[in-house]
Amino acid sequence: MPTVLITGCSSGFGLATAKLFVDRGWQVVATMRQPRTDVLPAADNLRILPLDVTQPASISTAVAQAGDIDVLVNNAGFGAAVPIELIEPETARGLFETNTLGALAMLQALLPMFRKRRSGAIINVTSSATLKPLPLVSVYRASKAAVDALTESLAVEMEPFGVRAHIVLPGRSPETSFGDNAMPHLRGLDHPDYKPMIEGFIASFRDDSGPFTHASDVAEAVWQAATDPHAPLRIPAGQDAVQWMAEAS
Ligand SMILES: NC(=O)c1ccc[n+]([C@@H]2O[C@H](COP(=O)([O-])OP(=O)(O)OC[C@H]3O[C@@H](n4cnc5c(N)ncnc54)[C@H](OP(=O)(O)O)[C@@H]3O)[C@@H](O)[C@H]2O)c1
Repeated sequence: MPTVLITGCSSGFGLATAKLFVDRGWQVVATMRQPRTDVLPAADNLRILPLDVTQPASISTAVAQAGDIDVLVNNAGFGAAVPIELIEPETARGLFETNTLGALAMLQALLPMFRKRRSGAIINVTSSATLKPLPLVSVYRASKAAVDALTESLAVEMEPFGVRAHIVLPGRSPETSFGDNAMPHLRGLDHPDYKPMIEGFIASFRDDSGPFTHASDVAEAVWQAATDPHAPLRIPAGQDAVQWMAEAS
């Protein structure tokens, strides 16, 4: 069976994707910043390795331990809802270091193996937020839109070597830890102009009555990208993301 390496498997989409690939018999290297053995049931086809995508030594150690990889899923990431004028430089840098440069570093670590072998697939999990000019998530959107652009070129650059590249664009998912993990970066709730906008944004993000994305939608989209050689470059994941992509085109 082929082997997939997935980043950011401690929760949410990465965890659901790791579970789905384990259940369907693939060899799975589930990576986490702080490895946990209590989130995934033990299985012969599952290995859990430590990996922080912002740390070059962590990447090279994990890739060396992982051995042969057929599919890389760049899923690790975080968000921040902050007005542009208030975003801390540290937060802006952190978004690009994890979401953009972390994904690039993983690519650079695995592409030589894929290119020499003339096979493999890269699946970058970005966001349907790149499809719409939403307020408050500007730098997050920019960090993910950069990965969209990078993946488009990557697909063309790697095509002669038999390596595929895909973008999975999840919609809004209040059921992962994404919202909670974004909270420490929030700024502007004490600002009279921005407070209502931020409160409205948080309320609509947490609203689970309308169409939204389930972790299983993302896992299935990643599965399609990994297993279907004719999968499209861009795959929306979740009912809301499918709708946004249709509107965007
Ligand atoms: N939920 C949404 O609404 C939504 C929508 C569109 C796209 N996305 C994207 O989907 C991906 C997964 O998000 P999620 O919703 O599943 O959120 P999540 O539950 O917060 O999961 C994010 C994962 O990324 C990991 N991570 C963060 N920084 C990392 C780093 N430097 N190195 C390695 N791992 C790191 C986290 O690990 P720790 O536990 O160590 O923090 C966690 O495992 C992200 O790229 C996110 O931007 C999410």
